[in-house]
Amino acid sequence: MEDKKFPVFIDGNIISFTPQCSEHIELYSKWMNDPKVRRYARWEMPRTVEDIKRWFEPREGRVQRFIGFEIWHKKDKKPIGQCGLAMIDWINGWANAFLYIGDPEYWNKNIATEATEMLVEYAFNELNLHKLQGGAAVENIGSWSVAEKIGFKFNGIQKDVMYVDGKYRNVKTYGILKEDWMKKRMK
Ligand SMILES: CC(C)(COP(=O)(O)OP(=O)(O)OC[C@H]1O[C@@H](n2cnc3c(N)ncnc32)[C@H](O)[C@@H]1OP(=O)(O)O)[C@@H](O)C(=O)NCCC(=O)NCCS
Repeated sequence: MEDKKFPVFIDGNIISFTPQCSEHIELYSKWMNDPKVRRYARWEMPRTVEDIKRWFEPREGRVQRFIGFEIWHKKDKKPIGQCGLAMIDWINGWANAFLYIGDPEYWNKNIATEATEMLVEYAFNELNLHKLQGGAAVENIGSWSVAEKIGFKFNGIQKDVMYVDGKYRNVKTYGILKEDWMKKRMK
């Protein structure tokens, strides 16, 4: 366990979000190469420490289309995963939400649910995005259950878009509009 020397960006109950941290590159690589973690996350190629180091290189004027957080477990005082927004379209106001808990010991403890709520709140009430999207393999029950629990609407099935363990898999796609999130929040 380490002390929390990294800045808290968003504070939750079980977890907080901190900026991604170059001191944790080896941990990120461990998580992203773990067969259990990467199975439905579409990380079919190995991630080297050097690949991940590139995340921290200067952006040199490119538009920021990605925002990533480290998920920090407050009680156990350690990083346990990552989440964020990818393919951000600042003009039309949408982004893809992504999330993983890198240490399977922390699965099914409601952590992704809390993290997704924090991420949605950030996307709508800080960044003023209009819509978030996400998708998960039908077999990845934990992932789409989280989306449904917090109010993402089921958009439909994309057939055969993921090839896992020698079989094509269907992906359940979801979206949530800011106005629907705000209505839910007011209840
Ligand atoms: C998917 C993932 C983020 C879920 O995180 P988590 O912290 O376990 O999620 P939560 O505990 O908040 O919620 C999971 C829900 O799914 C349910 N669930 C999980 N596996 C289930 C199963 N096999 N059958 C039925 N329900 C299941 C849980 O019971 C829970 O619902 P509940 O709160 O109503 O009981 C995590 O498993 C993970 O990081 N997996 C590896 C990477 C990945 O696949 N990321 C997503 C890519 S789309």
